[in-house]
Amino acid sequence: MKIAVFGAGSLGSVLGAILSRKNDVLLITRGEHLRAIQENGLRVEGMVNDLFHIDALDHYPGGFDLLILTVKAYQTESAAEEIKKQYDGEPVITFQNGVGVVDILKKYGFDVIPGVTTMGATRTLPGVVMYAGYGDTFIGEENGRFSERVIHFAENFTECGLRVEVVNDIMERRWVKAAINACINPLTAIMRVPNGKLADKELVEIVKCVADECSAVLSDMGIYADVFSLAMDVIEKTAKNRSSMLQDIEMGRKTEIDFITGPFIQGMCNKMLYHMVKFMEK
Ligand code: PAF
Repeated sequence: MKIAVFGAGSLGSVLGAILSRKNDVLLITRGEHLRAIQENGLRVEGMVNDLFHIDALDHYPGGFDLLILTVKAYQTESAAEEIKKQYDGEPVITFQNGVGVVDILKKYGFDVIPGVTTMGATRTLPGVVMYAGYGDTFIGEENGRFSERVIHFAENFTECGLRVEVVNDIMERRWVKAAINACINPLTAIMRVPNGKLADKELVEIVKCVADECSAVLSDMGIYADVFSLAMDVIEKTAKNRSSMLQDIEMGRKTEIDFITGPFIQGMCNKMLYHMVKFMEK
């Protein structure tokens, strides 16, 4: 299968590398990371240790069986504008963080398959990514149907070595994942610590407050999830990972706070973290 990964930063690079074991993969990325991959290949360290020689470009040339989108949530519109130029109806799986990206992609007329992953990945150097935690990955049709194509993609991904499950409640899972990110990402970015440090007895109190507020928002929507237990599980599984928001702050980039914590700011703990991260972004 020909797969293009659009937005091959840390997570996209790891996904692309693993999927290249059984597919023709193209990584779409920019800058030094692109140049390093083109010149020396992509090195993955951690859960997988290997050098992958994968095609990489700075634009989407079209002609692929599947597009995987891993750009930052706030880059969805600009990515969609670019993809649109070459788009020919190929399915687009999004593993992006945050609430709202599926609707943006649908607005552009893409055939979207929502996905969720808690894999932890960090870019350590141009051309080098640390795959710091397995996490779990889910895909599913938005209407909950177990379609042949989703089963086919999941089988292909599993053969490559990813842990993937097809589910009938992917949109709920994307909300729950946003809640888990709301517990982990802002706090790791503010405290500048890897995910595992949130298990410290001081910080865990804040995680609990954020998680309980998220559970309340979700239950108002009819989604019942023990966000605290789920977040603690991800914290343990990705203990060594530096969250994507921490990486964004460290690199002086904008963060995904609006898409992650934004939907939960009616709670005081979420609201405080939201404004602290907004301040740090400046
Ligand atoms: O955004 C992230 O960093 C990841 O979604 C996760 C699962 C929190 C791991 O760091």
